[in-house]
Amino acid sequence: MAQYRGTGIDSNQMNAVVITRPGAPEVLQLQKRLRPQPKENEVLIRIYAAGVNRPDVFQRKGSYPPPPGVSRDIPGLEIAGIIEKCGVAVTNLKKGDAVCALLSGGGYAEFAAVNAGQCLPIPHGFDFIQAASLPETVFTVWHNVFQRGGLKENEHFLVHGGGSGIGITAIQLAKAFGAKVFATAGTDEKCAECVVIGADRCINYKNQDFEYELKNEGVDVILDMIGGDYISKNVRLLREDGRLVFINTMKGSKQKPGDELDFGLVMKKRLTISGSMLRSRDAHFKQILTQDICRHVWPVLEEGKFKPVVFTQFPMCEASLAHQLMESSEHFGKIILTNTW
Ligand SMILES: NC(=O)c1ccc[n+]([C@@H]2O[C@H](COP(=O)([O-])OP(=O)(O)OC[C@H]3O[C@@H](n4cnc5c(N)ncnc54)[C@H](OP(=O)(O)O)[C@@H]3O)[C@@H](O)[C@H]2O)c1
Repeated sequence: MAQYRGTGIDSNQMNAVVITRPGAPEVLQLQKRLRPQPKENEVLIRIYAAGVNRPDVFQRKGSYPPPPGVSRDIPGLEIAGIIEKCGVAVTNLKKGDAVCALLSGGGYAEFAAVNAGQCLPIPHGFDFIQAASLPETVFTVWHNVFQRGGLKENEHFLVHGGGSGIGITAIQLAKAFGAKVFATAGTDEKCAECVVIGADRCINYKNQDFEYELKNEGVDVILDMIGGDYISKNVRLLREDGRLVFINTMKGSKQKPGDELDFGLVMKKRLTISGSMLRSRDAHFKQILTQDICRHVWPVLEEGKFKPVVFTQFPMCEASLAHQLMESSEHFGKIILTNTW
């Protein structure tokens, strides 16, 4: 594994990237903070790499506040690193273990304290950067596509935003578990890359209508982060007993006038409409989800059926550039921050 070193500042202190006020990427600034101390069920992780996720951008803009008890101004939902210290009640992990972990915030820093139940071993063959790309998207996709959506072998699956961190994870996991996979993305290049990583077909939503293109195929499960006019299109496209799962509504959570959602179709086709937000779920839920993922998803990663797609990496001190890139939507896959200050 690659090694990264911190700056060797006072042992009670650490570097952190802080949201200094709601606003543009430049509001992300480097500050010194006190190192967190692990509570009895937590471990302190020395962070080697942290994933950047779209919710971090929403938090930076002030529209996605962290849940109570979480760092108010240090973003970051996923990390990989080495355990530095264990809380007194932690029995399953020890100092020196290499792990990746799901956080509710605080990942853009040199250290983070996290519930031991939200840590997973770094999969064999993965480095810290690749491992840091996993937790937020794998947890979100596993819960929403497989647990809520109940995707099964040979079913048809559609993910919107196929080139996003969520998209590349959903495509690969759905394929690995035997589904026929469709995606949408905003450029022909992204569509081609979605096919390379496992999509059977990807539709460029800028010049094709996904509902029209897929109506002869039909879809059993849709993972939607777009909302807006996609809502009624999704409902029309779903097969009988289909499942529509929302993880965001970037084009709005309400229908536009004249594009009403036909609930008659929900009855007629016996559809299930669901959705969830991961960050605000409690530690018990996340611990059970971690165990389920360790059992079902980690073997898929280690068998090589899922390859991390890291688009690029930035030193932690250039987090504002990472946010600029994410907001441009020019990336395909994940953007990672490394522990260089
Ligand atoms: N509910 C939860 O628990 C949860 C957890 C994590 C993430 N999320 C959500 O999941 C989404 C993806 O997150 P991420 O971190 O993976 O983001 P990301 O990598 O920044 O990707 C967002 C993507 O959306 C695509 N997009 C925008 N408009 C689109 C449209 N009309 N049709 C299809 N694609 C479109 C953009 O690519 P194009 O160039 O293709 O437009 C962009 O790549 C975000 O909305 C985030 O808030 C939810």
